[in-house]
Amino acid sequence: MMTNRDLESRVDTTDQWIVERTGIRERRIAAEGEATSDMAAEAARRALASAELDARDIDMIIVATVTPDMPLPSTAVFVQAKIGARNDCAAFDIAAACAGFCYALSIADKFVRAGAAKHVMVVGVELLSRVVDWSDRSTCVLFGDGAGAVVVSESRGDGRGILSTAIHADGSYASALRIPGGGSAEPASARTLELKRHFVEMNGREIFKVAVKNLSSASAAALTAAGVAADDLDWVVPHQANLRILEGVAERTGVPLTRFYLNLARYGNTSSASIPIALDEAVREGAIKAGQSVLFCALGGGVAWGSAVIRW
Ligand SMILES: CC(C)(COP(=O)(O)OP(=O)(O)OC[C@H]1O[C@@H](n2cnc3c(N)ncnc32)[C@H](O)[C@@H]1OP(=O)(O)O)[C@@H](O)C(=O)NCCC(=O)NCCS
Repeated sequence: MMTNRDLESRVDTTDQWIVERTGIRERRIAAEGEATSDMAAEAARRALASAELDARDIDMIIVATVTPDMPLPSTAVFVQAKIGARNDCAAFDIAAACAGFCYALSIADKFVRAGAAKHVMVVGVELLSRVVDWSDRSTCVLFGDGAGAVVVSESRGDGRGILSTAIHADGSYASALRIPGGGSAEPASARTLELKRHFVEMNGREIFKVAVKNLSSASAAALTAAGVAADDLDWVVPHQANLRILEGVAERTGVPLTRFYLNLARYGNTSSASIPIALDEAVREGAIKAGQSVLFCALGGGVAWGSAVIRW
């Protein structure tokens, strides 16, 4: 665990600044030697236990991450081996940054609805501590490491399940949040290392504005598509990036902030992992109960964003 006080000794910041601007108080940092697939596999095992399924029941593994174990192969194939899934199931990664979980959930929903898969493992996982510049106070205070997972299966016909999903992107914001180095555009070299091109770069203000706007419109659209009125919605489990962004979304959508399940104070922004981690905590705590309606919404680098409404 790393607290805001711990960060005060690394960069020119204060606990007060971080809490007031973001709502974040502490974040988790993966152990040295721990890889993204290790955390993803642990989350996947717990999701299997909750779903009372065996790893061999899984037909497809989708890992949403922008911090894969390595560029090739996908993190999903490491997860496949680590959890003991069948050696012929589908396994692939989705790169949609903080919206990755919404993207993966939407894909899983479509495969299951089409009858092309029975049980899809959806993992959101991120080891952002490995790609954050720990000397840049404008980014390093925001992020944390984490993993969460769900299994998407055929509906039992009891009205519970995924009611709507939507995914979007606007590439005109591509440079507002990125890790520019290490890909084909700027292959790793001594020069890219020297210029710190392998770390997260962000225009925080630009992302903030587009996040409030697009999360609000996507949330409203998801509710309409699901046939759930804002007043009847039980919970919002949003991407946990910044409390002020969520205050803006609450105001614009008319869903009070008291119905937002929030845990960003303890984990910071864990990107694609934030929704499944929050969902898991909310369910284990008994906050989200069977039959309740839940809205997911997330926006991140790309910008890419997505939303979904489920009946738990
Ligand atoms: C990053 C963010 C918290 C910054 O808050 P802000 O109110 O926009 O602050 P600004 O960037 O305008 O910076 C205000 C001042 O605080 C300073 N500052 C930035 N980080 C700081 C820190 N950790 N501690 C202290 N001061 C800091 C800036 O240097 C700036 O100083 P200046 O006015 O002297 O130039 C906010 O923009 C944000 O949350 N954006 C969205 C980021 C996000 O969620 N990204 C992920 C999306 S998935």
